[in-house]
Amino acid sequence: MTEPMTDEPFRTIIEPFRIHSVEPMRLTSRAERAAALAAAGYNLFELPAQDVLIDLLTDSGTGAMSAEQWAAVQRGNEAYAGSPSFQRFRTAVTDLFPFRHILPTHQGRAAEKILFTVTGGAGRVIPNNTHFDTTRANIEFTGAQAVDLPVPEGLQPSLRHPFKGNMDVAALHGLLAERADVVPLVMLTVTNNSGGGQPVSMANIRAVREVCDRYGKPLFLDACRFAENAWFIKTGEPGYGDVPVADIVREMAALADGMTMSAKKDPLANIGGWLAVNDDRLAEQCRSLEILTEGFPTYGGLAGRDLEAIAQGLSECTDDDYLRYRVRSIAYLGEALESSRVPVVVPFGGHAVFIDARALLAHLDPLRYPGQVLACALYEQGGVRACEIGTVMFGLRPDGTEAPAAMDLVRLAVPRRTYTQSHIDYVIEVVTRVAGRAAQLPGLRIVYQPRQLRHFTARFEPLR
Ligand code: F0G
Repeated sequence: MTEPMTDEPFRTIIEPFRIHSVEPMRLTSRAERAAALAAAGYNLFELPAQDVLIDLLTDSGTGAMSAEQWAAVQRGNEAYAGSPSFQRFRTAVTDLFPFRHILPTHQGRAAEKILFTVTGGAGRVIPNNTHFDTTRANIEFTGAQAVDLPVPEGLQPSLRHPFKGNMDVAALHGLLAERADVVPLVMLTVTNNSGGGQPVSMANIRAVREVCDRYGKPLFLDACRFAENAWFIKTGEPGYGDVPVADIVREMAALADGMTMSAKKDPLANIGGWLAVNDDRLAEQCRSLEILTEGFPTYGGLAGRDLEAIAQGLSECTDDDYLRYRVRSIAYLGEALESSRVPVVVPFGGHAVFIDARALLAHLDPLRYPGQVLACALYEQGGVRACEIGTVMFGLRPDGTEAPAAMDLVRLAVPRRTYTQSHIDYVIEVVTRVAGRAAQLPGLRIVYQPRQLRHFTARFEPLR
């Protein structure tokens, strides 16, 4: 008897693209990798990328552009002022984020630098669900204080909750009730990268907006991963199942007064970003600074061709097939590690799987940097480069003292449209093997560090 035809979906994840051009990668031996690691001072940012097999250091700027994006690059117009590429960029941005003023920047941190130079300063306090490292550093650089207000669920790696990126609204209320005069604006990072790539619900954005309204404070989105966040709202928040992703994004934007953005994440570009604001006076101040550091406001540190690539990428990243594949492929990695009993942050975020290194390397004190130790071991064992998000990244305070971060995580960030399922299967094998030997891994000590953003350039030595 023949089975009737069915519309039931298949289990295999289909990458919704075929490969258009390829970049060879180089296999190395474990001895070669051990030597490269020692030469890099056990800092994975110091490795030559050609010595890395699968690069999960970041999803930022590392994605593959589409044929249409490369075609758009050819249409780039390089006029200093008034380029049609800027018009296309602005139209694509405002279609999703209808803010009054759009200031292109060379990447997200440039938008942060401009925004906080104008709004920060000594004595000011800027809350966020969790500040990303460059956001925090840009705020602290002005003398202001960066405050993280995640919901308590967000700090428990093994606790399942659909929107662990949410802000603790009561804590925000408490902060504003006491010190509203020193808070120039409130930020929300979607998805919450440092907190595990976890999404923020529309209900939470709305609740934060209400508190902001009560105290007359503008709300800014750090919207790098807005499309992945919108997909989680569509698939996880009641009432949004039938709402198109682009409409969800517009609803998020309508609750905010402005945004900082890195086009190197969801917009599928290799470089770029923007600052958007509604307030005319703030826009004028920001634009003056933009001209000083980025360039004329119709290119802002980018080539016209970059603006074109971003404009095209914005239409691709809100596509249902793409987002389904994207979020499903991250969960595939996470589920495999979870079933091998590797402690991972659950549920899985939109761009990365985070390993709880403090739990896996429980024999190490946080000040022996379990996340850095694990990331180094993944590289030495299998040529997989990951990123510590823990005490190395956040443990050094502005006054020079050191304290354990809230969590010691290792992030496996997956570049967009770049690796196939077999690459991910290989990563699963490497992580599982390292996890089986984690209890034998020695700690690290820092032998050099700068005062700020130490994770990029610090050098380490294994403790034997
Ligand atoms: N905000 C968030 C939430 C980020 O994740 C990043 C960058 C930025 C701002 C800054 O943007 O790199 O264009 O200047 N995150 C990258 C990462 C670097 O690896 O997560 P940028």
